[in-house]
Amino acid sequence: MINDISAAHPSTAPASAADLSALRLRMRAGSGDRHQRLDVRFEGMHGAETPAVYHRFVAVNEACHAAIEPVLERSRLCDVLLDWQSRNRTALLRRDLDEMAVAPLPRMAFDYDVAGLPEAFGAGYVLEGSRLGARYLHRMMRKRLVEPAFAGVSLLYLASADEPDHFRPFLAQAAHVLTTEASRDRAVAAANAAFDLFLETERISRSVGGAFPADVSQGF
Ligand code: HEM
Repeated sequence: MINDISAAHPSTAPASAADLSALRLRMRAGSGDRHQRLDVRFEGMHGAETPAVYHRFVAVNEACHAAIEPVLERSRLCDVLLDWQSRNRTALLRRDLDEMAVAPLPRMAFDYDVAGLPEAFGAGYVLEGSRLGARYLHRMMRKRLVEPAFAGVSLLYLASADEPDHFRPFLAQAAHVLTTEASRDRAVAAANAAFDLFLETERISRSVGGAFPADVSQGF
């Protein structure tokens, strides 16, 4: 696997803006339908009368980060991105849940094989890319904090997406590894597996009784 060999000695030469843009477009095109479906399922979150949908959003993210992050920590991504472990956000998500007295969802398993670097980058793309949406959601949710219904809302996870910019360096390193169509296909397949976990967890979040504060039904 030539890509894996080159990634064991990641290049320090910067990838061109065109490389990054092409890779991002490829990942987005390959997984965008699933992202779109996720967006729809959380529609209205920052415009709703209560934080019920936000509670579910944090719970779904917590369950999925708790499933995916340890798998990626054991992958070769850590050899390539030396600060990978410091990017973990499960603990922040857990604190958000605790602050809002929302029970975590049942533990999920992410059993996609990410032993190959393309797969690890693909799954990592979903977690790292979600920071972009989180920045937007943070701006929107922050405005609601002045309202009594949103008084107890905790935004630690969303706030962590603002700084520093992890996504671009992630993409830059990925561009050194994902140099062939085949490796990009593998990355897209892994990204889709990660998105599928989010979609399935979101589905489960709607049927878990008692996990959310009483007003949750208004958000569905
Ligand atoms: C719940 C789990 C979610 C995951 C895993 C996720 C994942 C991602 C990923 C991978 C990207 C990067 C796409 C790219 O390459 O440009 C992204 C971007 C984005 N997401 Fe999400 N997303 C989630 C939820 C949401 C929700 C609920 C919204 C609601 C509006 C949202 C809004 C956005 C936006 C606006 C961007 C683009 C930001 C930009 O390009 O500057 N996401 N997300």
